[in-house]
Amino acid sequence: MKRTTVVPSAYRGMHVGIIMDGNGRWAASRGLPRTAGHRAGVRTARKIVEAATRAGVGTLTLYAFSADNWSRPTPEVGALMRLFRRSLLGESKRCVDNGVRLTIVGRRDRLPSSLLSTIQEAEAMTAHGRNLHLRVAIDYSARESILQAASAAGGETLTREQFGRLLAQVNHDPFPIADLDLLVRTGGEQRLSDFLLWESAYAEFYFTPRMWPEFTEEQFLGALGEFELRERRFGGVPEQVAS
Ligand code: FPP
Repeated sequence: MKRTTVVPSAYRGMHVGIIMDGNGRWAASRGLPRTAGHRAGVRTARKIVEAATRAGVGTLTLYAFSADNWSRPTPEVGALMRLFRRSLLGESKRCVDNGVRLTIVGRRDRLPSSLLSTIQEAEAMTAHGRNLHLRVAIDYSARESILQAASAAGGETLTREQFGRLLAQVNHDPFPIADLDLLVRTGGEQRLSDFLLWESAYAEFYFTPRMWPEFTEEQFLGALGEFELRERRFGGVPEQVAS
């Protein structure tokens, strides 16, 4: 991707989350191993990160590996961990060139040490990126995060902002993360799968049957366009939204 001059955009400051589902089915439908689907998934992720940067999206959170994904066959888990490491090694420079700040959210104590050190390098290298904050969720569980943050509060009564800061801490987030505006899920399922439960309180949902390796920039822009047409009332009435 060429160095991007980011123009003021309707999507600036927006937080988009994506559940990138369907790699395995896409591969199986072509007689390929599931890992081929994950490799194709990384190529889609790169295209969508570029598209989000161009569109001026503020924060993009990609769900790459849930805490429950550890239950997958060991060879698939191993292949995913190696793929994450290779992708981070390969993409960090591209992120720097495009002003993308990359951070990983989730637990870190169960990740292979080689991946962990690559994560730390990628986060340090891209820390000055201001065009897009790209968060990749690895070994992430929204419910576990909420439980941990609640335990850390130690019975104190907190404001939402204070709780948000604790949530950020347990997920190794550099700063409390904004509410999710738009949640996109590919692959045909229509569920949250333990992703950003707290942050999704008023998120708009966009589901598509398209498998993640086939998801395109046009479709991503279509999801943003559909989001613009939604009337977000945050519990209020239409007249309040209009005013
Ligand atoms: C869903 O497909 C995808 C995953 C479990 C995670 C892997 C995602 C990638 C490799 C793409 C992006 C990577 C990075 C580093 C940003 P699935 O295996 O659940 O598919 P299925 O539902 O068809 O079985």
